[in-house]
Amino acid sequence: MKLLITGGAGFIGSNFIHYWIKKYPNDKIVNLDVLTYAGNLENLKDIENNKNYKFVKGDICDIELVNNLTKDIDLIVHFAAETHVDRSIINSQDFIRTNVEGVRVLLDAAKNNNIRFHHISTDEVFGALDFKEKPFNEKTHYNPRSPYSASKAASDHLVRAYFYTYKLPITISNCSNNYGPYQFPEKIIPLFITNLIENKKIPVYGEGKNIRDWIHVDDHNAGIEAIIKKGKIGETYCLGGGNQLTNLELTKKILTLMKVDEEMIEFVVDRPGHDLRYDIDFSKAKNELDWEPKINFEYGLKKTIEWYKNNKKWWKPLLRK
Ligand SMILES: NC(=O)c1ccc[n+]([C@@H]2O[C@H](COP(=O)([O-])OP(=O)(O)OC[C@H]3O[C@@H](n4cnc5c(N)ncnc54)[C@H](O)[C@@H]3O)[C@@H](O)[C@H]2O)c1
Repeated sequence: MKLLITGGAGFIGSNFIHYWIKKYPNDKIVNLDVLTYAGNLENLKDIENNKNYKFVKGDICDIELVNNLTKDIDLIVHFAAETHVDRSIINSQDFIRTNVEGVRVLLDAAKNNNIRFHHISTDEVFGALDFKEKPFNEKTHYNPRSPYSASKAASDHLVRAYFYTYKLPITISNCSNNYGPYQFPEKIIPLFITNLIENKKIPVYGEGKNIRDWIHVDDHNAGIEAIIKKGKIGETYCLGGGNQLTNLELTKKILTLMKVDEEMIEFVVDRPGHDLRYDIDFSKAKNELDWEPKINFEYGLKKTIEWYKNNKKWWKPLLRK
């Protein structure tokens, strides 16, 4: 099988490429990534000479390039996106361009060549839950509340529209918050770990009451694999880690594991429109695909902290970006 992975130099995409090459060494992978501030070829240094792996620096909005690259592809796994909510609040232009227009370009190329298309999305498209509401599932109405989640919601609708209109063989996954190695140190877990390694304070939004579900990136990638191998065409699958924590609980876990005092916490002005709670019901993926997250959160977090401690050369240059 020959796969086109978009955004493979980013956090989840590079972990996915490692995951896939290890499990399916005979498959061929083309990684299309424009290398924004979040794309980093260091993530893939160990496989750059693998004969079944090829990197192409380019933009998913480049119609000619995408058409050329997709001529002999069996499957597109689409990760490329602008992903940081705070950046989308400051300026959403790149989010609309890459996350909406870029998806259209890829979908048209997939349509022209009838290529199976798996779209990676987020639980943030569903909006926010209050403390009593049931977790999101595949039937939850979309209610995105940040420019980032609105752009991802638009892309999900477009992907589904290509299924209904053109019978394009698509699947979608909506996953909760990922953590693990190679995550850009602007996101909460790597930001806090790297700040604490550098003896800097860690900024908690508001009172730290917002609740997120955490999933290890390897569990997410195993879920994507299950959808690719066993998922039903046209369907959406919710993937989650089964680990809901307030941001303050998460912060305290990191502090405990790193043996640092709570006085390093700095409460800062809350993010505008900060969604209160995300929680995800992944029973469809469990029942239909026999997938469920396996990595214990304490264990995964400990390993992630060790990874950032052992890979300062990877993240220190990123702090200026
Ligand atoms: N990180 C999470 O917790 C999470 C959770 C659920 C879903 N997702 C989704 O998973 C996907 C990957 O997220 P991530 O955290 O790895 O993101 P990331 O920001 O770490 O990586 C994104 C990658 O996309 C590339 N890219 C951006 N614009 C591009 C363009 N126009 N053309 C080609 N490449 C481009 C970047 O260079 C980068 O390598 C995204 O679609 C995101 O919405 C992320």
